[in-house]
Amino acid sequence: MGKMAIYPGSFDPITNGHLSIVRRALTMFDSITIAVASNPMKKTLFTLDERMDLIQKSIKNDERIYIDSFNGLLVDYVDSKKTNIVLRGMRALSDFEYEFQMSLMNRKLNKNIQTIFMMTDYKWLYTSSTIIKEAASLGGAIRGLVPDVVCQKLKEKFGFQ
Ligand code: PNS
Repeated sequence: MGKMAIYPGSFDPITNGHLSIVRRALTMFDSITIAVASNPMKKTLFTLDERMDLIQKSIKNDERIYIDSFNGLLVDYVDSKKTNIVLRGMRALSDFEYEFQMSLMNRKLNKNIQTIFMMTDYKWLYTSSTIIKEAASLGGAIRGLVPDVVCQKLKEKFGFQ
């Protein structure tokens, strides 16, 4: 089966920054499971089904990429998938504290879990699902920051189409 990494997140919605991390991680791992948090701490714009559907449409049938959802503790989900690797992307220093806290908490909850961080490509340094949603909600041009299918869906959601 090879080494699989779990790439967890809210993915509300998936961005080109997320996809870049997945593609780059596939040079290190045999497969990646994109694990969508079904009940993230934040309120989401898209439903779980919509978030998963947008990911599916964005990854264009790569048999090394799986899409799944999870509920409850991430470490329990990772364990259930018979791996111990959590993959997270990191942008600027501002991400560090939260990521550091989360990875230490996850290791406290399960000492076998290892979190691997990948620095984002500079092209995506300033983007996040949150800031893209804000720009889209006000009619800003977000093409190139998200897959076309996501761009379309955001426009529909905010009534710009
Ligand atoms: O994309 P996000 O919102 O930064 O992803 C955060 C996520 C979903 C990975 C994180 O909130 C999470 O792991 N939630 C599951 C609940 C959990 O295990 N919490 C304790 C770990 S600190």
